[in-house]
Amino acid sequence: MTKATIVLDRAFTVGHADQRLFGSFVEHLGRCVYGGIFEPGHPTADDEGFRQDVMELIRELGVTVIRYPGGNFVSGYNWEDGVGPVDQRPRRRELAWFSTETNAFGTNEFMSWCTKAGLEPMMAVNLGTRGADDARELLEYCNVDRGTALSDLRHQHGYPAPHNVKLWCLGNEMDAPWQIGAKSAHEYGTLARESAKLMRWLDPSIELVACGSSSRSMATFAEWERVVLEETFDVVEYISLHGYFSKHDDKSRDFMAEADLVGRYIDEIIAVADGVAARRRSPKRIMLSFDEWNVWYRTRDRATRTKPGWPEAPAILEELFTMEDALVFGAALLTLINRCNRVKAACVAQLVNVIGLIMTETGGRAWRQTIFYPFKHASEWAQGTVLDMRLTCGTFSAGNGERFPEIVSAAVLAEDEKSLSLFCVNRNFDQPIDLALSLRGFEFGKFVESHVMTSEDLNATNTADDPERVKPVIGPDAASRDGVWQLTVPPASWSVYRFAASPETAAG
Ligand code: AHR
Repeated sequence: MTKATIVLDRAFTVGHADQRLFGSFVEHLGRCVYGGIFEPGHPTADDEGFRQDVMELIRELGVTVIRYPGGNFVSGYNWEDGVGPVDQRPRRRELAWFSTETNAFGTNEFMSWCTKAGLEPMMAVNLGTRGADDARELLEYCNVDRGTALSDLRHQHGYPAPHNVKLWCLGNEMDAPWQIGAKSAHEYGTLARESAKLMRWLDPSIELVACGSSSRSMATFAEWERVVLEETFDVVEYISLHGYFSKHDDKSRDFMAEADLVGRYIDEIIAVADGVAARRRSPKRIMLSFDEWNVWYRTRDRATRTKPGWPEAPAILEELFTMEDALVFGAALLTLINRCNRVKAACVAQLVNVIGLIMTETGGRAWRQTIFYPFKHASEWAQGTVLDMRLTCGTFSAGNGERFPEIVSAAVLAEDEKSLSLFCVNRNFDQPIDLALSLRGFEFGKFVESHVMTSEDLNATNTADDPERVKPVIGPDAASRDGVWQLTVPPASWSVYRFAASPETAAG
């Protein structure tokens, strides 16, 4: 058994973990929309074709905000194709994923689905093949109440109430060679600035996200963000980050360390954004929207990304996540939570089937992937005040010799201040960790429960036939010795330890 200590003080905080940190992403890609959230004819589909089995899992997951309609897809998308009478909508060859897009699902269906699921929409505009004018028109269609050509068109389409979308992404991964209509930083920066200007004039209440790099490994990383923010600083609130974590050559230690690189990535983008602010002597702080993140490597290579013959909703990018993946996922999630003073929105890519938290069979069953559970725990218990943790623990060495802490952890005082949750990933695969937890300012605290997820087989996955192979169980109670909580964190585990944080809840 190795030892670790965590010291928390109620008075020392990082910031507020916003509900938008617990977002996800629905793209017209593979079976995310068709056969995922939308499947008229499915036994559970409602009158609009929304699968209710999936809807129930989404509610259980506690996801808050959904980015739509892409992703790479948005950069070739004409939003007009997806509104109005369904039988008149065009079928298109879709160049991001080499599929046929039927347009049976579009903006209004998405908004209706969000309302039913209790989700905030986060829309992306096409700055690949289109530009500022189209972005302005989509905003008019969505947010203007009535009395203009496009708001009246929405009425005609059967949606009289404005959708009132607050959060908008100015394009997607515009730095990437695989993006339809990719641009240089300067080209994109000026286009994003002009689009933002028009959109804001039309609806000053919106919040805008400029595209950052499509990953930290891009050759133009950091310089891209600098140039884009020099152009857009005055007209956007956020810069985006995208990160997908891979396991190469079966190297588990390097894979585990991917989560730490998330923290480094965030710190680097904060430095760049604040550098742009400094040049202007501006007190404004650009916030971070980590609007695509997940583990993704098995289905990432070119061979599995598309299928020949322009199929409709092909089964592509259907990553089956293991217990090991859930550890990296959980550690990355905790890293986002620990940077909540600057990361104000985040979206797991994606929600269903496509690198999804939830899997479905078209026409059949739906189930939870391993990564579902860390997300569910965090969305339920990590909205609130994030405490500034002092953690001491053992380390492990990655392939490049760099050492990383065995434990990744975050502690959150709930919104109502009645409970405190300590989230923990133990990246030591061989030994439990004997964790001593000091809770200063919570002296009346009482242990409530713990939830632990681990598996004998780190390659275990959940499947349609064995949907509960990996899932959390209630863990042992914690004991307090001399005012210090003694926790035993199992090897290779995700766990949550919950404490009462007010005298009333402690008494109850
Ligand atoms: O989430 C899958 C794809 O990954 C998205 O379409 C794109 O933005 C990213 O490269």
